[in-house]
Amino acid sequence: MEYILYEQKGDYALLTIQREKALNALNSQVLDELNGALDAIDLDTVRCLILTGAGSKSFVAGADIGEMSTLTKAQGEAFGKKGNDIFRRLETLPIPVIAAVNGFALGGGCELAMSCDIRICSDNAVFGQPETGLGITPGFGGTQRLARIVGVGMAKQMIYTARNIKADEAYRIGLVNAVYPQEELLPAAEKLAGTIAKNAPIAVRSCKKAINEGLDADMDEALVIEEKLFGGCFETEDQRYGMAFFLDKNKEKVKEPFRNR
Ligand code: CAA
Repeated sequence: MEYILYEQKGDYALLTIQREKALNALNSQVLDELNGALDAIDLDTVRCLILTGAGSKSFVAGADIGEMSTLTKAQGEAFGKKGNDIFRRLETLPIPVIAAVNGFALGGGCELAMSCDIRICSDNAVFGQPETGLGITPGFGGTQRLARIVGVGMAKQMIYTARNIKADEAYRIGLVNAVYPQEELLPAAEKLAGTIAKNAPIAVRSCKKAINEGLDADMDEALVIEEKLFGGCFETEDQRYGMAFFLDKNKEKVKEPFRNR
């Protein structure tokens, strides 16, 4: 792969979009390679994925404007579908995904970050949906996910005005969970991934599924989704071990890693 670097680091993995000369903008090749990288994740051993951009200036500066500039209506719709399908795959990946936003997250870059479970960023990060200034709507899920994350009023304001916001404002409106100095961002993402990876993988995946699917359902259906997933954890080796460990009063014992079984 030319534009994606994928590294497994024990029980978590780091995926870096590396098209630095175009501020990691998403052209069709980057999108195809991202899709291929998602296929290649070993879900038996990787318990959390971190997504970031190469360099210290940009996470992803959007979909590739050069590529989009000559598209017909039908090609524009197909390009939107391509991005949406891949971002939806990322959003519904069984394991949690952390966006470590290391700079510009504009247009498709902001949309990519919003397809991840958790967003943290560096203090030079800039978020925005500049599309209306280019004569288009956000096209990789921005009109839907931004409103769900920051609320309808703030999302509409950001999208209609095409105004970018800095890291502190992104934090204030709940678009990111935390802001770090640039050099501390990746270590913080890795620490977070490591903490998640220590917990029982079947339980963590079930939580992701329950939250995601529950948000698309009414409360009664959502609670049934939770009940099924809660029930599904019982009789797993990790549930038996986790509860037996708690109940064992021997203070000398050391907790073993969960086995994803
Ligand atoms: N597409 C294609 N190329 C891009 C790009 C993009 N989205 N963003 C940056 N680049 C390229 C620039 O063209 C430039 O290339 P050259 O060196 O060959 O000229 C290179 O990256 C560096 O960019 P700048 O010189 O512009 O860097 P800067 O520091 O002056 O500005 C920036 C940085 C403010 C992010 C500016 O590059 C910018 O505004 N980029 C576009 C951001 C944008 O509008 N994104 C939304 C795209 S639309 C979209 O994403 C639709 C969707 O929802 C799917």
